[in-house]
Amino acid sequence: MRIAVRPIAAGAPRVPALWIGMAEGDTLESLKLPAAFRRPVRAAIAARDITGKKNQLAVVYADSGRLLLSGLGARKEINADVLREAAALAGRRAQALGAHEVGVWLPSVSPRLPLAGSLQALAEGLSHGGYAYTAYRTRASEKPADLDSLIFFAGKGELAEAKSMAASLAALLDGVRAARELANRPGNDLTPRAFAESAQVMARANALQCKVFGPRELEKLGAGAILGVARGSTEEPRMIELTYAPKGRSRGTLVFVGKGITFDSGGISLKPADNMDRMKFDMCGAAAVVGAMQAIAQLKPQVKVVGIVATCENMPGSKAYKPGDVLKAMNGTTIEITNTDAEGRLVLADALSYAQKLQPDAVVDLATLTGAIIIALGTFTAGMYAGDDKLGARLMDSSRRTGERMWPMPMWEDYLDLMKSDVADLKNAAGVREGGACSAAAFLKQFTKYPWAHLDIAGVGHVDRERPGLARGGTGFGVRSLVDLAMRWE
Ligand code: BES
Ligand code: ZN
Ligand code: ZN
Repeated sequence: MRIAVRPIAAGAPRVPALWIGMAEGDTLESLKLPAAFRRPVRAAIAARDITGKKNQLAVVYADSGRLLLSGLGARKEINADVLREAAALAGRRAQALGAHEVGVWLPSVSPRLPLAGSLQALAEGLSHGGYAYTAYRTRASEKPADLDSLIFFAGKGELAEAKSMAASLAALLDGVRAARELANRPGNDLTPRAFAESAQVMARANALQCKVFGPRELEKLGAGAILGVARGSTEEPRMIELTYAPKGRSRGTLVFVGKGITFDSGGISLKPADNMDRMKFDMCGAAAVVGAMQAIAQLKPQVKVVGIVATCENMPGSKAYKPGDVLKAMNGTTIEITNTDAEGRLVLADALSYAQKLQPDAVVDLATLTGAIIIALGTFTAGMYAGDDKLGARLMDSSRRTGERMWPMPMWEDYLDLMKSDVADLKNAAGVREGGACSAAAFLKQFTKYPWAHLDIAGVGHVDRERPGLARGGTGFGVRSLVDLAMRWE
Protein backbone atom coordinates (compact mmCIF):
# COMPACT_ATOMS: atom_id res chain seq x y z
CA MET A 1 0.00 0.00 0.00
CA ARG A 2 1.36 3.39 -0.99
CA ILE A 3 0.30 6.25 1.26
CA ALA A 4 1.15 9.82 0.33
CA VAL A 5 0.22 13.11 1.95
CA ARG A 6 -0.10 16.28 -0.13
CA PRO A 7 -0.90 19.86 0.77
CA ILE A 8 -4.15 21.28 -0.45
CA ALA A 9 -3.21 23.62 -3.26
CA ALA A 10 -5.23 25.94 -5.40
CA GLY A 11 -7.36 24.09 -7.91
CA ALA A 12 -8.76 20.60 -7.72
CA PRO A 13 -6.51 17.56 -7.16
CA ARG A 14 -6.47 15.12 -10.06
CA VAL A 15 -7.02 11.59 -8.78
CA PRO A 16 -9.05 8.66 -10.17
CA ALA A 17 -11.40 9.03 -7.19
CA LEU A 18 -11.54 11.44 -4.29
CA TRP A 19 -13.24 10.51 -1.02
CA ILE A 20 -15.26 13.25 0.68
CA GLY A 21 -17.03 12.60 3.98
CA MET A 22 -20.43 14.19 4.53
CA ALA A 23 -22.29 14.20 7.83
CA GLU A 24 -25.97 14.93 8.27
CA GLY A 25 -26.50 18.67 8.13
CA ASP A 26 -23.36 19.35 6.09
CA THR A 27 -23.88 21.81 3.28
CA LEU A 28 -21.92 22.78 0.22
CA GLU A 29 -20.55 25.72 2.21
CA SER A 30 -19.59 23.80 5.34
CA LEU A 31 -17.62 21.24 3.29
CA LYS A 32 -15.23 23.95 2.01
CA LEU A 33 -14.66 22.29 -1.34
CA PRO A 34 -12.63 23.59 -4.28
CA ALA A 35 -14.77 25.54 -6.71
CA ALA A 36 -14.36 22.81 -9.33
CA PHE A 37 -16.29 20.31 -7.15
CA ARG A 38 -19.23 22.52 -6.39
CA ARG A 39 -21.38 21.82 -9.40
CA PRO A 40 -21.47 18.01 -9.15
CA VAL A 41 -21.72 18.02 -5.36
CA ARG A 42 -24.54 20.57 -5.41
CA ALA A 43 -26.39 18.38 -7.91
CA ALA A 44 -25.97 15.25 -5.76
CA ILE A 45 -27.23 17.08 -2.68
CA ALA A 46 -30.18 18.55 -4.60
CA ALA A 47 -31.14 15.11 -5.91
CA ARG A 48 -30.81 13.78 -2.33
CA ASP A 49 -28.40 11.12 -3.60
CA ILE A 50 -26.40 12.12 -0.56
CA THR A 51 -27.89 13.53 2.63
CA GLY A 52 -25.10 12.49 5.00
CA LYS A 53 -26.80 9.35 6.31
CA LYS A 54 -24.61 6.37 7.17
CA ASN A 55 -23.95 3.80 4.44
CA GLN A 56 -24.72 6.29 1.69
CA LEU A 57 -22.31 6.55 -1.16
CA ALA A 58 -22.81 8.77 -4.19
CA VAL A 59 -20.39 8.75 -7.10
CA VAL A 60 -20.32 12.05 -8.98
CA TYR A 61 -18.00 13.46 -11.63
CA ALA A 62 -16.01 16.66 -11.55
CA ASP A 63 -13.67 17.66 -14.37
CA SER A 64 -10.75 16.48 -12.25
CA GLY A 65 -12.20 12.98 -11.78
CA ARG A 66 -14.64 11.01 -9.65
CA LEU A 67 -15.81 12.12 -6.26
CA LEU A 68 -16.97 9.52 -3.74
CA LEU A 69 -19.44 11.31 -1.47
CA SER A 70 -19.65 9.20 1.64
CA GLY A 71 -22.37 9.49 4.31
CA LEU A 72 -21.13 9.55 7.92
CA GLY A 73 -24.35 9.93 9.93
CA ALA A 74 -24.74 12.46 12.73
CA ARG A 75 -21.63 14.59 13.12
CA LYS A 76 -21.63 14.10 16.91
CA GLU A 77 -21.54 10.33 16.59
CA ILE A 78 -18.68 10.01 14.15
CA ASN A 79 -15.82 7.95 15.54
CA ALA A 80 -13.08 5.74 14.14
CA ASP A 81 -15.47 2.81 13.57
CA VAL A 82 -17.89 4.99 11.57
CA LEU A 83 -15.07 6.37 9.43
CA ARG A 84 -13.55 2.94 8.86
CA GLU A 85 -16.87 1.52 7.70
CA ALA A 86 -17.70 4.44 5.44
CA ALA A 87 -14.21 4.30 3.94
CA ALA A 88 -14.46 0.55 3.39
CA LEU A 89 -17.68 1.00 1.46
CA ALA A 90 -16.04 3.68 -0.66
CA GLY A 91 -12.89 1.61 -1.13
CA ARG A 92 -14.96 -1.30 -2.36
CA ARG A 93 -16.78 0.91 -4.87
CA ALA A 94 -13.53 2.49 -6.07
CA GLN A 95 -12.13 -1.00 -6.56
CA ALA A 96 -15.23 -2.08 -8.47
CA LEU A 97 -14.86 1.00 -10.67
CA GLY A 98 -11.29 0.03 -11.47
CA ALA A 99 -9.50 2.72 -9.44
CA HIS A 100 -6.02 1.82 -8.19
CA GLU A 101 -5.69 5.09 -6.35
CA VAL A 102 -8.02 7.06 -4.11
CA GLY A 103 -7.53 10.54 -2.70
CA VAL A 104 -8.97 11.59 0.66
CA TRP A 105 -10.21 15.11 1.26
CA LEU A 106 -9.18 15.38 4.92
CA PRO A 107 -10.85 18.73 5.64
CA SER A 108 -14.21 16.99 5.27
CA VAL A 109 -13.56 15.17 8.56
CA SER A 110 -10.54 16.55 10.31
CA PRO A 111 -11.43 19.92 11.78
CA ARG A 112 -13.77 18.35 14.29
CA LEU A 113 -12.05 14.99 14.89
CA PRO A 114 -8.55 14.05 16.09
CA LEU A 115 -6.39 13.81 12.97
CA ALA A 116 -4.35 10.71 13.79
CA GLY A 117 -7.34 8.50 14.61
CA SER A 118 -9.35 9.65 11.58
CA LEU A 119 -6.49 9.25 9.16
CA GLN A 120 -5.74 5.75 10.42
CA ALA A 121 -9.41 4.67 10.29
CA LEU A 122 -9.84 6.07 6.77
CA ALA A 123 -6.70 4.37 5.49
CA GLU A 124 -7.69 1.07 7.11
CA GLY A 125 -11.18 1.25 5.63
CA LEU A 126 -10.09 2.18 2.12
CA SER A 127 -7.40 -0.48 2.07
CA HIS A 128 -9.78 -3.08 3.43
CA GLY A 129 -12.59 -2.36 0.97
CA GLY A 130 -10.24 -1.80 -1.95
CA TYR A 131 -8.42 -5.10 -1.62
CA ALA A 132 -8.90 -7.75 -4.29
CA TYR A 133 -7.29 -11.18 -4.61
CA THR A 134 -6.10 -11.30 -8.19
CA ALA A 135 -3.35 -13.95 -8.26
CA TYR A 136 -5.34 -16.50 -10.26
CA ARG A 137 -7.12 -14.21 -12.72
CA THR A 138 -5.59 -14.86 -16.11
CA ARG A 139 -7.95 -12.79 -18.27
CA ALA A 140 -6.93 -9.17 -18.24
CA SER A 141 -10.47 -8.01 -18.91
CA GLU A 142 -11.78 -9.81 -15.84
CA LYS A 143 -8.92 -9.04 -13.51
CA PRO A 144 -10.32 -6.90 -10.69
CA ALA A 145 -8.50 -3.70 -9.79
CA ASP A 146 -6.66 -3.66 -6.49
CA LEU A 147 -6.75 -0.31 -4.74
CA ASP A 148 -3.18 0.06 -3.57
CA SER A 149 -2.46 3.77 -3.39
CA LEU A 150 -3.91 6.45 -1.11
CA ILE A 151 -3.28 10.18 -1.20
CA PHE A 152 -4.38 12.28 1.75
CA PHE A 153 -4.98 15.93 1.00
CA ALA A 154 -4.30 17.85 4.18
CA GLY A 155 -4.47 21.48 5.25
CA LYS A 156 -1.32 23.32 6.34
CA GLY A 157 -1.82 22.67 10.05
CA GLU A 158 -2.19 18.93 9.53
CA LEU A 159 0.50 18.25 7.02
CA ALA A 160 3.36 17.41 9.34
CA GLU A 161 1.38 15.06 11.57
CA ALA A 162 -0.23 13.30 8.61
CA LYS A 163 3.13 12.86 6.91
CA SER A 164 4.69 11.39 10.04
CA MET A 165 2.04 8.64 10.07
CA ALA A 166 2.16 7.55 6.44
CA ALA A 167 5.01 5.03 6.52
CA SER A 168 3.91 3.19 9.66
CA LEU A 169 0.31 3.05 8.46
CA ALA A 170 1.45 1.55 5.17
CA ALA A 171 3.45 -1.08 7.08
CA LEU A 172 0.39 -2.02 9.13
CA LEU A 173 -1.92 -2.22 6.12
CA ASP A 174 0.64 -4.28 4.18
CA GLY A 175 0.66 -6.70 7.11
CA VAL A 176 -3.12 -7.06 6.87
CA ARG A 177 -2.88 -7.53 3.11
CA ALA A 178 -0.12 -10.12 3.48
CA ALA A 179 -2.41 -12.10 5.81
CA ARG A 180 -5.29 -11.88 3.33
CA GLU A 181 -3.08 -13.00 0.43
CA LEU A 182 -1.95 -16.05 2.42
CA ALA A 183 -5.50 -16.86 3.53
CA ASN A 184 -6.85 -16.65 -0.01
CA ARG A 185 -4.24 -18.90 -1.61
CA PRO A 186 -5.75 -22.23 -2.62
CA GLY A 187 -4.79 -25.33 -0.64
CA ASN A 188 -2.84 -26.86 -3.53
CA ASP A 189 -0.73 -23.71 -3.73
CA LEU A 190 -0.31 -22.87 -0.04
CA THR A 191 0.81 -26.26 1.22
CA PRO A 192 2.59 -26.39 4.60
CA ARG A 193 5.92 -26.40 2.75
CA ALA A 194 4.92 -23.39 0.64
CA PHE A 195 3.70 -21.65 3.79
CA ALA A 196 7.14 -22.07 5.36
CA GLU A 197 8.84 -20.86 2.16
CA SER A 198 6.63 -17.77 2.06
CA ALA A 199 7.39 -17.06 5.73
CA GLN A 200 11.11 -17.37 5.00
CA VAL A 201 10.89 -14.96 2.07
CA MET A 202 8.99 -12.48 4.25
CA ALA A 203 11.51 -12.90 7.09
CA ARG A 204 14.48 -12.30 4.81
CA ALA A 205 12.92 -9.15 3.37
CA ASN A 206 12.19 -7.81 6.85
CA ALA A 207 15.28 -8.88 8.81
CA LEU A 208 13.40 -11.37 10.99
CA GLN A 209 14.88 -14.65 12.15
CA CYS A 210 13.05 -17.63 10.75
CA LYS A 211 13.38 -21.25 11.86
CA VAL A 212 11.47 -24.02 10.14
CA PHE A 213 10.91 -27.42 11.75
CA GLY A 214 10.14 -30.34 9.43
CA PRO A 215 9.04 -33.88 10.39
CA ARG A 216 12.47 -34.91 11.68
CA GLU A 217 12.88 -31.87 13.93
CA LEU A 218 9.29 -32.22 15.13
CA GLU A 219 10.01 -35.85 15.94
CA LYS A 220 13.01 -34.79 18.04
CA LEU A 221 10.90 -32.20 19.84
CA GLY A 222 8.31 -34.87 20.65
CA ALA A 223 5.59 -33.03 18.73
CA GLY A 224 3.40 -36.11 18.44
CA ALA A 225 0.16 -34.21 18.06
CA ILE A 226 0.94 -32.27 14.88
CA LEU A 227 2.78 -35.31 13.49
CA GLY A 228 -0.34 -37.36 14.15
CA VAL A 229 -2.63 -34.93 12.31
CA ALA A 230 -0.23 -34.71 9.36
CA ARG A 231 -0.05 -38.48 8.81
CA GLY A 232 -3.13 -38.58 6.58
CA SER A 233 -1.53 -36.35 3.96
CA THR A 234 1.40 -36.75 1.58
CA GLU A 235 2.31 -33.14 2.41
CA GLU A 236 4.77 -32.84 5.30
CA PRO A 237 3.95 -30.69 8.34
CA ARG A 238 5.97 -27.62 9.29
CA MET A 239 6.35 -25.53 12.39
CA ILE A 240 7.55 -22.02 11.65
CA GLU A 241 9.17 -19.72 14.21
CA LEU A 242 9.58 -16.04 13.32
CA THR A 243 11.51 -13.86 15.76
CA TYR A 244 11.67 -10.11 16.05
CA ALA A 245 14.23 -8.85 18.59
CA PRO A 246 14.26 -5.12 19.36
CA LYS A 247 17.46 -3.07 19.51
CA GLY A 248 18.17 -1.87 23.03
CA ARG A 249 16.16 -2.75 26.10
CA SER A 250 13.25 -5.13 25.61
CA ARG A 251 10.03 -4.85 27.57
CA GLY A 252 9.58 -8.62 27.56
CA THR A 253 8.61 -11.43 25.22
CA LEU A 254 5.31 -11.82 23.40
CA VAL A 255 4.44 -14.98 21.51
CA PHE A 256 1.72 -15.20 18.86
CA VAL A 257 0.62 -18.69 17.82
CA GLY A 258 -1.48 -19.48 14.74
CA LYS A 259 -3.44 -22.54 13.60
CA GLY A 260 -2.26 -23.22 10.06
CA ILE A 261 -4.29 -26.11 8.67
CA THR A 262 -3.87 -25.45 4.94
CA PHE A 263 -6.81 -27.74 4.22
CA ASP A 264 -9.15 -29.38 6.71
CA SER A 265 -11.05 -32.27 5.14
CA GLY A 266 -11.90 -33.53 8.62
CA GLY A 267 -9.65 -36.55 8.09
CA ILE A 268 -11.16 -39.99 8.76
CA SER A 269 -14.04 -38.16 10.52
CA LEU A 270 -14.65 -36.67 7.07
CA LYS A 271 -16.59 -33.43 6.70
CA PRO A 272 -19.70 -33.28 4.46
CA ALA A 273 -19.05 -32.10 0.88
CA ASP A 274 -21.06 -28.87 1.14
CA ASN A 275 -18.75 -25.88 1.53
CA MET A 276 -15.70 -28.05 2.12
CA ASP A 277 -13.78 -25.72 -0.19
CA ARG A 278 -13.93 -23.11 2.57
CA MET A 279 -11.59 -25.25 4.62
CA LYS A 280 -8.66 -23.83 2.68
CA PHE A 281 -9.22 -20.92 5.08
CA ASP A 282 -8.41 -23.07 8.10
CA MET A 283 -5.05 -21.30 8.30
CA CYS A 284 -6.40 -17.77 8.89
CA GLY A 285 -4.96 -17.70 12.41
CA ALA A 286 -1.50 -18.55 11.08
CA ALA A 287 -1.88 -15.99 8.28
CA ALA A 288 -2.68 -13.30 10.86
CA VAL A 289 0.44 -14.20 12.84
CA VAL A 290 2.67 -13.94 9.75
CA GLY A 291 1.02 -10.66 8.66
CA ALA A 292 1.45 -9.22 12.16
CA MET A 293 5.12 -10.28 12.29
CA GLN A 294 5.73 -8.54 8.97
CA ALA A 295 4.21 -5.30 10.26
CA ILE A 296 6.03 -5.60 13.60
CA ALA A 297 9.37 -6.05 11.84
CA GLN A 298 8.79 -2.69 10.17
CA LEU A 299 7.24 -0.87 13.12
CA LYS A 300 9.91 -1.99 15.58
CA PRO A 301 8.26 -2.03 19.03
CA GLN A 302 10.46 -2.25 22.16
CA VAL A 303 9.45 -5.82 22.88
CA LYS A 304 10.62 -9.20 21.63
CA VAL A 305 7.91 -10.86 19.54
CA VAL A 306 7.91 -14.46 18.37
CA GLY A 307 5.37 -15.79 15.88
CA ILE A 308 4.75 -19.54 15.76
CA VAL A 309 2.84 -21.21 12.98
CA ALA A 310 1.82 -24.85 13.22
CA THR A 311 0.89 -25.95 9.73
CA CYS A 312 -0.18 -29.21 8.09
CA GLU A 313 -3.04 -30.72 6.11
CA ASN A 314 -5.82 -32.76 7.70
CA MET A 315 -6.49 -35.56 5.20
CA PRO A 316 -7.88 -39.09 5.31
CA GLY A 317 -4.97 -40.89 3.61
CA SER A 318 -4.27 -44.55 4.37
CA LYS A 319 -1.76 -43.66 7.08
CA ALA A 320 -4.13 -41.13 8.65
CA TYR A 321 -4.63 -40.96 12.40
CA LYS A 322 -7.90 -42.56 13.44
CA PRO A 323 -10.54 -42.21 16.09
CA GLY A 324 -9.37 -44.29 19.05
CA ASP A 325 -5.67 -43.54 18.47
CA VAL A 326 -3.70 -41.95 21.29
CA LEU A 327 -1.17 -39.18 20.52
CA LYS A 328 1.43 -37.66 22.81
CA ALA A 329 1.92 -33.88 22.69
CA MET A 330 5.24 -32.12 23.16
CA ASN A 331 4.59 -31.47 26.85
CA GLY A 332 4.03 -35.18 27.49
CA THR A 333 0.22 -35.04 27.69
CA THR A 334 -1.50 -38.01 26.07
CA ILE A 335 -4.59 -37.38 23.95
CA GLU A 336 -7.19 -39.90 22.86
CA ILE A 337 -8.58 -39.07 19.43
CA THR A 338 -12.37 -39.15 19.44
CA ASN A 339 -12.82 -37.09 16.27
CA THR A 340 -10.11 -36.43 13.69
CA ASP A 341 -11.88 -33.23 12.67
CA ALA A 342 -10.89 -31.64 15.99
CA GLU A 343 -7.33 -31.30 14.64
CA GLY A 344 -6.70 -27.60 15.29
CA ARG A 345 -6.41 -28.04 19.03
CA LEU A 346 -3.89 -30.84 18.43
CA VAL A 347 -1.48 -28.80 16.34
CA LEU A 348 -1.92 -25.95 18.83
CA ALA A 349 -1.17 -28.30 21.74
CA ASP A 350 2.34 -28.74 20.36
CA ALA A 351 2.80 -25.10 19.37
CA LEU A 352 1.63 -23.87 22.80
CA SER A 353 3.94 -26.39 24.51
CA TYR A 354 6.81 -25.13 22.37
CA ALA A 355 6.04 -21.52 23.38
CA GLN A 356 6.93 -22.44 26.96
CA LYS A 357 10.59 -22.75 25.89
CA LEU A 358 10.60 -19.04 24.97
CA GLN A 359 9.81 -17.96 28.55
CA PRO A 360 7.01 -15.72 27.36
CA ASP A 361 5.38 -12.89 29.29
CA ALA A 362 2.23 -13.46 27.26
CA VAL A 363 1.01 -15.81 24.55
CA VAL A 364 -1.96 -15.19 22.25
CA ASP A 365 -3.18 -17.86 19.87
CA LEU A 366 -5.49 -17.33 16.91
CA ALA A 367 -7.38 -20.22 15.38
CA THR A 368 -10.34 -21.00 13.16
CA LEU A 369 -10.99 -23.58 15.84
CA THR A 370 -14.69 -24.43 16.06
CA GLY A 371 -17.96 -24.20 14.18
CA ALA A 372 -19.49 -23.79 17.64
CA ILE A 373 -18.11 -20.26 18.03
CA ILE A 374 -20.05 -19.30 14.89
CA ILE A 375 -23.24 -20.70 16.42
CA ALA A 376 -22.52 -18.81 19.64
CA LEU A 377 -21.46 -15.43 18.28
CA GLY A 378 -22.21 -15.30 14.57
CA THR A 379 -19.77 -13.96 12.03
CA PHE A 380 -19.20 -10.46 13.41
CA THR A 381 -16.97 -11.15 16.39
CA ALA A 382 -14.22 -13.47 17.54
CA GLY A 383 -14.56 -15.38 20.81
CA MET A 384 -11.92 -14.29 23.31
CA TYR A 385 -10.87 -16.80 25.96
CA ALA A 386 -8.57 -15.39 28.62
CA GLY A 387 -6.48 -17.74 30.70
CA ASP A 388 -5.17 -14.56 32.29
CA ASP A 389 -7.44 -11.65 33.18
CA LYS A 390 -4.89 -8.91 32.65
CA LEU A 391 -3.93 -10.19 29.20
CA GLY A 392 -7.62 -10.57 28.36
CA ALA A 393 -8.25 -6.95 29.34
CA ARG A 394 -5.31 -5.78 27.22
CA LEU A 395 -6.60 -7.70 24.25
CA MET A 396 -10.08 -6.23 24.70
CA ASP A 397 -8.50 -2.76 24.72
CA SER A 398 -6.76 -3.54 21.44
CA SER A 399 -10.04 -4.85 20.07
CA ARG A 400 -11.81 -1.58 20.90
CA ARG A 401 -9.06 0.50 19.36
CA THR A 402 -8.81 -1.49 16.15
CA GLY A 403 -12.49 -2.27 15.67
CA GLU A 404 -11.61 -5.99 15.36
CA ARG A 405 -14.49 -7.23 17.45
CA MET A 406 -13.82 -9.71 20.24
CA TRP A 407 -16.21 -10.97 22.89
CA PRO A 408 -15.15 -12.52 26.22
CA MET A 409 -16.07 -16.18 26.67
CA PRO A 410 -15.97 -18.34 29.83
CA MET A 411 -13.22 -20.71 30.94
CA TRP A 412 -14.82 -22.65 33.79
CA GLU A 413 -13.49 -26.01 34.99
CA ASP A 414 -16.75 -27.70 33.95
CA TYR A 415 -15.67 -27.45 30.32
CA LEU A 416 -12.47 -29.31 31.09
CA ASP A 417 -14.44 -32.21 32.57
CA LEU A 418 -15.89 -32.72 29.08
CA MET A 419 -12.39 -33.30 27.74
CA LYS A 420 -11.37 -36.10 30.13
CA SER A 421 -10.68 -39.46 28.48
CA ASP A 422 -11.12 -43.02 29.78
CA VAL A 423 -7.77 -44.10 28.43
CA ALA A 424 -5.54 -41.01 28.14
CA ASP A 425 -5.02 -37.68 29.93
CA LEU A 426 -7.41 -35.88 27.59
CA LYS A 427 -9.58 -36.57 24.58
CA ASN A 428 -9.63 -34.19 21.63
CA ALA A 429 -13.40 -33.86 21.13
CA ALA A 430 -15.97 -33.56 23.89
CA GLY A 431 -18.60 -35.72 22.22
CA VAL A 432 -21.29 -33.20 23.12
CA ARG A 433 -21.83 -30.28 20.77
CA GLU A 434 -23.07 -27.82 23.38
CA GLY A 435 -20.42 -25.33 24.40
CA GLY A 436 -18.05 -26.75 21.78
CA ALA A 437 -15.93 -23.60 21.54
CA CYS A 438 -15.56 -23.48 25.33
CA SER A 439 -14.52 -27.12 25.69
CA ALA A 440 -11.97 -26.57 22.91
CA ALA A 441 -10.53 -23.59 24.82
CA ALA A 442 -10.43 -25.63 28.03
CA PHE A 443 -8.41 -28.26 26.13
CA LEU A 444 -5.90 -25.66 24.91
CA LYS A 445 -5.43 -24.26 28.42
CA GLN A 446 -3.87 -27.58 29.45
CA PHE A 447 -0.84 -26.75 27.32
CA THR A 448 -0.17 -23.29 28.75
CA LYS A 449 1.78 -22.40 31.88
CA TYR A 450 2.05 -18.67 31.16
CA PRO A 451 -0.34 -15.73 30.73
CA TRP A 452 -2.33 -16.81 27.70
CA ALA A 453 -5.38 -15.85 25.66
CA HIS A 454 -7.08 -17.63 22.78
CA LEU A 455 -9.05 -16.11 19.93
CA ASP A 456 -11.48 -18.40 18.12
CA ILE A 457 -11.74 -16.67 14.74
CA ALA A 458 -13.74 -19.33 12.85
CA GLY A 459 -16.52 -16.78 12.24
CA VAL A 460 -14.40 -13.78 11.31
CA GLY A 461 -11.25 -15.10 9.62
CA HIS A 462 -12.97 -15.20 6.27
CA VAL A 463 -16.35 -14.12 4.91
CA ASP A 464 -18.33 -16.27 2.49
CA ARG A 465 -21.07 -13.81 1.69
CA GLU A 466 -20.35 -10.48 0.03
CA ARG A 467 -20.61 -7.81 2.68
CA PRO A 468 -20.70 -4.05 2.24
CA GLY A 469 -17.13 -2.89 2.18
CA LEU A 470 -15.52 -6.31 2.24
CA ALA A 471 -14.36 -8.71 -0.44
CA ARG A 472 -15.26 -12.36 0.02
CA GLY A 473 -12.38 -14.42 1.40
CA GLY A 474 -9.71 -13.87 4.02
CA THR A 475 -10.18 -10.79 6.20
CA GLY A 476 -6.79 -10.51 7.89
CA PHE A 477 -8.62 -10.46 11.21
CA GLY A 478 -6.27 -10.20 14.18
CA VAL A 479 -3.29 -8.56 12.49
CA ARG A 480 -4.16 -5.06 13.69
CA SER A 481 -4.93 -6.16 17.24
CA LEU A 482 -1.72 -8.18 17.56
CA VAL A 483 0.29 -5.24 16.27
CA ASP A 484 -1.55 -2.88 18.63
CA LEU A 485 -0.80 -5.20 21.56
CA ALA A 486 2.90 -5.33 20.68
CA MET A 487 3.23 -1.59 20.06
CA ARG A 488 1.68 -0.79 23.45
CA TRP A 489 3.32 -3.55 25.44
CA GLU A 490 5.04 -2.49 28.65
N1 BES B 1 -11.71 -25.97 11.08
C1 BES B 1 -12.82 -26.45 11.84
C2 BES B 1 -13.65 -25.33 12.46
C3 BES B 1 -14.38 -24.42 11.51
C4 BES B 1 -15.67 -24.71 11.13
C5 BES B 1 -13.80 -23.27 11.03
C6 BES B 1 -16.36 -23.88 10.29
C7 BES B 1 -14.48 -22.43 10.17
C8 BES B 1 -15.76 -22.73 9.80
C9 BES B 1 -12.34 -27.37 12.97
O1 BES B 1 -11.17 -28.05 12.73
C10 BES B 1 -13.42 -28.37 13.23
O2 BES B 1 -13.76 -29.07 12.33
N2 BES B 1 -13.95 -28.38 14.43
C11 BES B 1 -15.00 -29.28 14.80
C12 BES B 1 -14.72 -29.76 16.20
C13 BES B 1 -15.58 -30.91 16.63
C14 BES B 1 -15.26 -32.15 15.81
C15 BES B 1 -15.34 -31.19 18.10
C16 BES B 1 -16.32 -28.52 14.74
O3 BES B 1 -16.34 -27.32 15.04
O4 BES B 1 -17.31 -29.12 14.34
ZN1 ZN C 1 -11.45 -29.89 11.68
ZN1 ZN D 1 -9.83 -27.12 11.38
